[in-house]
Formats: sequence, structure tokens, C-alpha cells
Amino acid sequence: MKPLLVANWKMNIGLAEAAQKAKAIDDALEDARGIDIVICPSFPSLPLVAGAVDVVQVGAQNLHPDEKGNLTGEVSVSVVRECASYVILGHSERRANFAETDDFIHRKVMSAADHGIIPIFCFGETASQRAQGKTNHVIEEQLESGLKGFDAARHEIVLAYEPVWAISGKAGSEVATPEEISKTLAVVKEKMTDIFGSGAKNIRILYGGSTAPENAHDIFSLQNVSGALVGGASLEPDSFIAMVHNLIEVKNV
Ligand code: PGA
Repeated sequence: MKPLLVANWKMNIGLAEAAQKAKAIDDALEDARGIDIVICPSFPSLPLVAGAVDVVQVGAQNLHPDEKGNLTGEVSVSVVRECASYVILGHSERRANFAETDDFIHRKVMSAADHGIIPIFCFGETASQRAQGKTNHVIEEQLESGLKGFDAARHEIVLAYEPVWAISGKAGSEVATPEEISKTLAVVKEKMTDIFGSGAKNIRILYGGSTAPENAHDIFSLQNVSGALVGGASLEPDSFIAMVHNLIEVKNV
């Protein structure tokens, strides 16, 4: 399994800047063939970013599971397929701000995979769920309802554990310790075996939540971590590139 680093630009970068930053990242990493690098810009920038890169791959930040229809403002799975090879699904910002349910996220995951797009399935507990000691329960539920029936022998999928309280840029956010991440990922691994059977061992797990060049080494060194989903620290090419180098060094690829 190749290590994987994903940039989640959220809605922070405009079209021309997106193409320029993607090219800067791609140029700096043209020899980085041992790992997968994915940039997820806003929808309108997807074709521009795709045209600007060679070694870097492109991901969307969302999709609608239907192929077409009268849903003003949505972007269908068929359109996303034309310009992206990965898609971030189940992100906590969408669960919280757009009331995305586990069922709807499940539909998106299945549809993405059926259309040849690799889902990056995000899950993680909120600060209050953590304070109430519900972390393991919440995570097991999200994995179960978001991924039930997913055929890991036929389709690729990536999981991204993102504790909501550790995502940067939010009031009161904290940085998770490697020990804490590692403890939760042991629960995730067990649940993955329940859901995917022997296919679980071929599924990459990313960590997301305030990852940056300063803490990347410790996080990438964790046994169950194949890479990261990076928000804030991916907005500057230099810090994202530094994290790619970190990942290459730690995983020795
Ligand atoms: P962060 O965001 O790296 O800025 O914490 C990660 C994410 O929300 O995917």
C-alpha cells in the first residue's frame, strides 16, 4: 500500500491560485513516485488543477450520489468522475453544517465507488462525545452505517480518522497526541475487520486534524497510519511539500 497525503483546500483558494499552487507542488514532487499525493480544491478549480499536475492526483470535496437530475446547485457523481479520481465524503464540516446523515453518506460512498472514484471516508467524534467517553461507540457507529455492504475486494476506499475537536481553525480546537490517535485507531482496525473481513488489511487509514510539518513525523510513525488528510497546513505549498517529504522519509519509500 502506497502512503498517501491529501490536501483538503476546503473553500479557501480561488481558481488561478489553485492552479498555480498545484503546479508548484507537482513540480517540487515530480520524483515522489513512491507515494500518492492528492489535492482537493473547490469544484470550479478541479479541471484547472487536473490540467496543471502530473504526479499529483485530483480529488473532489463532495458529490451527489445520483448521475443526473433536477437538484439545483449539486454536482453529480458522473460529473465528478470526469475530473477527479478521489472524493472526500462524510467530512465533519458537512455532517455538522449540512446535516448529512450516515445514510446519505453511505449512498455517496457506494455511488462514488461504483463510478470508479475512490472515496476518502471521514469519521470522528466531537468534543462533547469525547468528553462523555463515547469516542469508540461513535466511531464504530459511523463506520458501520457509512460502510456497510462496501465490497473492499472490488473497490478501493480510504478511511480518514478526524477527531472533530482536533480540526484546526475552530474555537477551542486541540492537538491530539500520537498516543490518543493510536488508541482510537486500534478500535478502528478491529471494526474494519468486522466490516470488510480480510479486505481490511488493504485499506489505507489517514489521520486528519491539525497535522503540520511539526507533528507529521510522530503521526506518520504510528503503525496504523498511512498518511494524512491535511487542511490548514496544505494551503501553503512549502508546508505541504515538507509533509510529503516527511511521509517519504518515515515510510522509507
Ligand atoms: P486541518 O483540517 O488539517 O486544518 O485540521 C483537516 C480537515 O478538516 O480535513
